[in-house]
Amino acid sequence: MLTQFDFVKEIAKYGLENDQEKLLKTLGELIEHSKKTKKINFALQLQSILKESLKEQKFSGLMKVESNNYFDREDEKDLKEFILEKITSDYSFQNIICNEDVKEELSFFIKEHKLADIIRQLELPISNKILFHGPSGCGKTLAAYILAGELDKMIYVVNLGAIVSSKLGETSKNITKIFKKAAREDCIIFFDEFDSLGKIRDYSQDHGEMKRVVNTILQLFDYLPQDTLVIAATNQINMLDEALLRRFDLILKLELPTPQQTEELIMKILKQSHFYYADTIVKELIQDCDGLSFYSIQKTLGNAMKKSFLNNQDKTLDTDVWKSLISSERRALIK
Ligand SMILES: Nc1ncnc2c1ncn2[C@@H]1O[C@H](COP(=O)(O)OP(=O)(O)OP(=O)(O)O)[C@@H](O)[C@H]1O
Ligand SMILES: [Mg+2]
Repeated sequence: MLTQFDFVKEIAKYGLENDQEKLLKTLGELIEHSKKTKKINFALQLQSILKESLKEQKFSGLMKVESNNYFDREDEKDLKEFILEKITSDYSFQNIICNEDVKEELSFFIKEHKLADIIRQLELPISNKILFHGPSGCGKTLAAYILAGELDKMIYVVNLGAIVSSKLGETSKNITKIFKKAAREDCIIFFDEFDSLGKIRDYSQDHGEMKRVVNTILQLFDYLPQDTLVIAATNQINMLDEALLRRFDLILKLELPTPQQTEELIMKILKQSHFYYADTIVKELIQDCDGLSFYSIQKTLGNAMKKSFLNNQDKTLDTDVWKSLISSERRALIK
């Protein structure tokens, strides 16, 4: 059995070696060790130091906090391939551009969870199952990370595709394990590409499999502890079972940008960039972006800046280059 001194030695070693992953793991172990040896105050202090420092680290919105060796419990080893990542998010509300009503619903949802204790005391139910849908590149995954960031919770990204194509009959068991693990660790469960569920029909020879899996999820949803959050995202909402859809407390659609939102996005990117641009020409290009997603617009603009610089060795946005990139993105869309 390791003593506190052993942990201190390991922490010093990994800290000096800048091995963030092992350092975090050892700190986690020390917290557990302290709890077991009745040093609860120390454990809680360490836990909050860890949380604060993770929050303060400047990373590009997301940080992977655990690697595969996280799954040290024997019965969780087979979950390795089903949980893509455990991450902490630094995204906040200001990162998303969306309709006012979606914004309002999202901020209400966040408030509800921040004040969960009071709502519980009033014996009112708390919404904890949310589904984002809408076209690709309009912020579904982003919205999930924003919720995690705003609520300061870790997020488990579940690889539903892998679960669904896993061994016949194992799907329900694996989903149940993930729910339990997330509830135990107070993490958000995030099912990206939730429509993969509909694909069980194709993968499985056993037609009862789809029914069983959907039933398992329905049950897990029905008995979900109120402080466990489930977020799902899909761009094919019609692939989802009606009974499953009904279980969500909130279903929000993230749509393609309006011209105003396109302008907001473009201006935000340009203002944060190192590039000069002609305001009037940029405004003219906004209508060319009609039909493109937030992601596509962001991509064309990023590439245009890169090309402008590489072609001209100058930090002025070449709007002709950008215009042609927008056109080819639109052509790809029509195909
Ligand atoms: N509504 C938005 N506001 C601001 N930026 C956005 C928005 N939507 C998308 N983006 C940008 O595009 C990136 C990709 O978006 P995201 O992954 O959230 O799309 P998605 O809806 O999940 O798409 P898919 O269905 O393909 O998974 C985001 O990380 C962000 O940089
Ligand atoms: Mg996505």
